[in-house]
Amino acid sequence: PENVGILAMEIYFPTTCVQQEDLETFDGVSKGKYTIGLGQDCMTFCTDLEDVISMSLTAVTSLLEKYEIDPKQIGRLEVGSETVIDKSKSIKTWLMHIFEKCGNTEIEGVDSTNACYGGTAALFNCINWIESSSWDGRYGLVVATDSAVYAEGAARPTGGAAAVAMLIGPNAPIATESKYRGTHMAHVYDFYKPNLASEYPVVDGKLSQTCYLMALDSCYKRFCNKFEKEEGRQFSLLDTDYIAFHSPYNKLVQKSFGRLLFNDFSRHARSVGKDAQEKLEPFAGLSEQDSYNSRDLEKVSQQLAKPLYDAKIQPSTLLPKQVGNMYTASLYAALASIIHNKHTTLDGQRVMMFSYGSGLASTLFSFKIREGQFPFTLSNITEVMDVQNKLDSRHEFLPEDFVENLKRMETLYGAKDFVSTSQLSLLRPGAFYLTKVDSMYRRFYSRK
Ligand code: ACO
Repeated sequence: PENVGILAMEIYFPTTCVQQEDLETFDGVSKGKYTIGLGQDCMTFCTDLEDVISMSLTAVTSLLEKYEIDPKQIGRLEVGSETVIDKSKSIKTWLMHIFEKCGNTEIEGVDSTNACYGGTAALFNCINWIESSSWDGRYGLVVATDSAVYAEGAARPTGGAAAVAMLIGPNAPIATESKYRGTHMAHVYDFYKPNLASEYPVVDGKLSQTCYLMALDSCYKRFCNKFEKEEGRQFSLLDTDYIAFHSPYNKLVQKSFGRLLFNDFSRHARSVGKDAQEKLEPFAGLSEQDSYNSRDLEKVSQQLAKPLYDAKIQPSTLLPKQVGNMYTASLYAALASIIHNKHTTLDGQRVMMFSYGSGLASTLFSFKIREGQFPFTLSNITEVMDVQNKLDSRHEFLPEDFVENLKRMETLYGAKDFVSTSQLSLLRPGAFYLTKVDSMYRRFYSRK
């Protein structure tokens, strides 16, 4: 099979959200800390009606309906998530409800978990399956979903919630360039969830930023090496049209792109003009460790990268800034934003993807974009995702109601014997929602 990749996409996020500007006032932090300091506009969250299972049910059902895919045509279903609802039963098994009804129980795949990397692991599993000798000719389906919530404190404004569903197959408009993957994995305690009674992670914010940037450097070097071996010429940022980053908050994406420019400078690549060359020269002698700690380098490379950032990165930032960190779904929401913003001009272009999951697992890979054939065309994907309408039809909560909701969600995490009490009017038409959890912890869902 040729041009294996993403044939179709759907994204779902709750309507319930809180403005970062309002949170700044409510939290009593300085004005601009979340909106400029973190670069975030708004954050979605789940009420007791929604969780990663309901969001996945919604995204998958909607994808199958809108692209008119027969559920019998799915041969592999992979879910990436770090939101634990059950320590044994995978989210994938709940999704089987959709397929059993149509008489299809022959679907390989279960869940993949490692912080925000699970969606990428799920995607690679599907792509590898289609490129393997065990492929039976049917589609793969990938779901990346999370509800990101943090304890009170500096990390709280970096939450979010969403599910992205992607149909995988040959002759895809978003085709992987499997030859150039660059991966970096290591053992660190930057962000982890050791307390099984709580949904909140333990996070070393500063360390997680450094780990993210070190992983990016390492993946970029490996990606470039593979490209150069294959193509017989140097790779630079000019060889990619867009880059989608895993986006915990936008400021880190700005820093990351500056870091890539510094990488190109160190590699004497052609993307670095004379001016940048001169301004970065003073940092050429820094040790690698010192280069992560240098505020001056960070500022200078971010400034120098600004024009390229506006062209190559800005189109990917819409959903991550508006919805927040969606963990496994974040990178794919960035890709969805590129398609939403640029679908008319993407033909023949390259999109690079940086996936980072704390702990840590990371990969830099790329897609070659092609026109595609209906229903798997960029314009149809854009129409189906309907991003602007979804953003415009949200319900803004006051920060005090957002905090009240989080408190209630804390009491429901791992609980049994309760019914959902939030108003159904908060749901989009066609959305699945949790109705109750019974005395055996069994969960029940309905569709609006
Ligand atoms: N106006 C403008 N900018 C401001 C203002 C203001 N009023 N106040 C602060 N800032 C800036 C700071 O200068 C800083 O920017 P800089 O890094 O460019 O200097 C930024 O806002 C953040 O402020 P800090 O005080 O440095 O950090 P804070 O204590 O708010 O914590 C953090 C931020 C670490 C990101 C925290 O939210 C966190 O731990 N989040 C979760 C961890 C995370 O997302 N890690 C990323 C990779 S792992 C993952 O995906 C989960």
